[in-house]
Amino acid sequence: MPAPHPQALEFLLNRRSRPAKTLTDPAPDAAALQPILTAGLRVPDHGKLEPWRLIILQGPALARLAELCRDMAPTRGLDAEKAEKSAMMFAAAPLMIAVISAPVHSEKVPPVEQAHSAGAVCLSLVNAALAAGWGANWLTGWTATDPQFLSRALDLTPTEQVAGYIVLGTETSPPPERPRPDVRQKTTWLTH
Ligand SMILES: Cc1cc2nc3c(=O)[nH]c(=O)nc-3n(C[C@H](O)[C@H](O)[C@H](O)COP(=O)(O)O)c2cc1C
Repeated sequence: MPAPHPQALEFLLNRRSRPAKTLTDPAPDAAALQPILTAGLRVPDHGKLEPWRLIILQGPALARLAELCRDMAPTRGLDAEKAEKSAMMFAAAPLMIAVISAPVHSEKVPPVEQAHSAGAVCLSLVNAALAAGWGANWLTGWTATDPQFLSRALDLTPTEQVAGYIVLGTETSPPPERPRPDVRQKTTWLTH
C-alpha cells in the first residue's frame, strides 16, 4: 500500500505563486534560506550531472542589475515603460535567486533534459519557499536569455542561461485567482 502524505498533497493541490509586485521585506535570511536551497536542489537530474547552480542576489547587487537593465534595454528595442518594468524586477525584489542552467557535455543526456532539470530547480525553490511561509515568484524576461546582459550582470559563460529569477519575500496581499487547467481536457488515457 502507498504511504500517503496528506499534508504534502494538500499543499501541492493549493499552492500558488505570490506575484513579485506583492512581495516586500523581510526576505529570508541565510539561515532561513538554507532548507529552501537544499530542497530546491533536490530535483530529478538524469545522470547526476548537476547542470545548474544558484546565484543569490541581495540589495546592492539587485540595484546594480536594475541599472544595467536601464542602460541596456534601449539597445534591445524596449520602450521606456518596458525598460523600467524589467529594471524594477530587480530593484523591487526583497531577495532573488538566479537559477543558472549550466549544461555540461554528456553522451547520454541531451541539453533539453538538462534544461528541464534546471526548470525543476526553479519550481522546487518556489515550492520550498511557499511551504516555509514565504512568498515566491518565478520570473524571466529578456534579462534571462540576453548573452551580453548575462555576461555583464552575472558573469555567465556563453552556454549558460537563467532558467528563472526566483523572487522571495513577505506577502502583502493575497494573490489574485488564476484559472487552473481542466485536467480532463489536458489528459488522454491510452489503454491499448
Ligand atoms: C519559465 C517561466 C517564466 C516565467 N516568467 C514570468 C515573468 O517574467 N513574469 C510573470 O509575471 N510571470 C512569469 N511566469 C509565471 C509565474 O511564475 C507563475 O506561473 C504564475 O505566477 C502562476 O504560478 P502558480 O501556478 O505558482 O500560482 C513564468 C513562468 C515560467 C514557468
